[in-house]
Amino acid sequence: MALPKVYVTRRIQETGLGLLPGRVEFRVWEKDYPIERERLLEEAAHVDGLITMLSDRVDEELLDRCPRLKVVSNYAVGFDNIDVPAATRRGILVTNTPDVLTEATADLAFTLMLAAARRVVESSAFLRSGEWTTWKPDLLLGADVFGATLGVAGMGKIGQAVARRAKGFSMNILYYNGTPRPDMELQLGARKVPFDELLRESDFITIHLPLTEGTRGLFDERALRAMKRTAILVNTARGPIVDQDALYTACSEHWIGGAGLDVFEKEPVPLDEPLLTLPNVTTLPHIGSATVRSREGMARKAAENLLAGLEGKRPPDLVNPEVLTQ
Ligand code: GLV
Ligand code: GLV
Repeated sequence: MALPKVYVTRRIQETGLGLLPGRVEFRVWEKDYPIERERLLEEAAHVDGLITMLSDRVDEELLDRCPRLKVVSNYAVGFDNIDVPAATRRGILVTNTPDVLTEATADLAFTLMLAAARRVVESSAFLRSGEWTTWKPDLLLGADVFGATLGVAGMGKIGQAVARRAKGFSMNILYYNGTPRPDMELQLGARKVPFDELLRESDFITIHLPLTEGTRGLFDERALRAMKRTAILVNTARGPIVDQDALYTACSEHWIGGAGLDVFEKEPVPLDEPLLTLPNVTTLPHIGSATVRSREGMARKAAENLLAGLEGKRPPDLVNPEVLTQ
């Protein structure tokens, strides 16, 4: 019997690719930049399965061109790059890679919180530019993280992992989430609050929500104006959850203390983005899950989910289980 055909839109770790030979016939986009749209449409037209990156848009147009497609396995926990309802309507399984990147992403959110609070990047640039001429009492003063109030927007797995770290910093933990998390309340003393209270009371707000029509632009001008003047906003989730123009005004006019960003409305963020000029904004190139262990785990999961779907089994990380019952 012919093996299922698969296209992988970027060379992922061997922990995943190594599972494919003998079980599927596969090709990999080998370039060091994302596959062009037209090329992806051509490659996808002939395959039964795809392993996709968050930089690939999987929409109606693409799905319409892929009569054989059975599984879209996203190498990411977020799947806002995929039109899931459109896939579901066509009976196509969509999968993601949760769990294996939870702790790495929480580490990075905490890194950004500390870096922004203690002005780490700004201080390093100060030293290297030769401006460090003397120790002085008011040199590069920052904010305390220890004992401060943390607002967790989105208390899913990553939000909870950040909250556990915050407990070690004796932080007072507030959270905004659809459903209550009694275990977090019991273990960490976390308190569920309405969104506006989170904005008003937090010294740090860290975003761990998925990007949906409901969260797009959630941190808009109104929200940013409601935050404390000293508060720091950290985003390691998805750029469009924050209105980037409003954030620029908020940080440059000091409505808030600053921001730590791993994600942007457009990625890679254009170098003329005004936010990049602000000393109170710490920026990273979407490296939340970028540890060796996380990426090996993501590759393994992406391959396992793909193979399960193609072999008629239920993929472990199925995003649209409705496909199996409809
Ligand atoms: C990274 O942003 C992911 O969603 O895995
Ligand atoms: C600072 O370096 C101190 O000794 O207080």
